[in-house]
Amino acid sequence: MADQNIKDQQEVYPSPQKYNNGNHDEESATIQSKELHKKKRMKRLAYILAFIVFQTGIILLFSSTIMKIRTPKFRVRSAAFESFEVGTAANPAFNFRMNAELGIKNTNFGNYKFQNAQIVFYYDGIPVGKAIFPGAEAGWRTTKKLKIAVDLSSDSLALANTNSKSQLGNDINSGVLKLNAQSKLSGKVRVTFIFMKKKSANMNCTLAIGLADTTVREINCQ
Ligand SMILES: *[C@@H]1O[C@H](CO)[C@@H](O)[C@H](O)[C@H]1NC(C)=O
Repeated sequence: MADQNIKDQQEVYPSPQKYNNGNHDEESATIQSKELHKKKRMKRLAYILAFIVFQTGIILLFSSTIMKIRTPKFRVRSAAFESFEVGTAANPAFNFRMNAELGIKNTNFGNYKFQNAQIVFYYDGIPVGKAIFPGAEAGWRTTKKLKIAVDLSSDSLALANTNSKSQLGNDINSGVLKLNAQSKLSGKVRVTFIFMKKKSANMNCTLAIGLADTTVREINCQ
């Protein structure tokens, strides 16, 4: 019974002498394991390198697309008149009440929040009317539309010591009057929760007003 037990043990735990055929095999086994180790290390290094390249690519892609902060475009989208009075070439004057729709086109992958601002309309470089509008937010990749009403009057031309009044006479003769609209938004673009950048958006639009048809014929923005 005891003898049987010892036999079983020998089979389960074979003696090292039985399988170890000398020093040579031991050495080659060590070399093999070293090589295996080296291979594993190289493989790991290759993985790390591939990951770094991949990560760099992702960062470059993000910084050139999603994270890139673009200046929002600010312009007059359309305008129509509520009241329209215009003088003659000999007695040049105008008095308009205009409703305009402004657009803030935000192409960023983040909201654009801007503060209160004003828009000034010029005739021949002289201010002829202005409107103030409240700050708002343009959602990411959207165009925020704002409506303003503004009174435009040639009264200030008489006060300005320039040739603008005679210029206005010429324009009334030609049937087209050009006004320039300028504004500046101060705000911030927020891309993700942490990344934020100040951005101002400038408007510089020219409106060509047809006096016969009392409409804004053309709007050109820089
Ligand atoms: C606005 O645009 C006109 C051209 O339409 C240009 O002559 C003028 O200098 C611009 N003004 C500003 C303030 O950018």
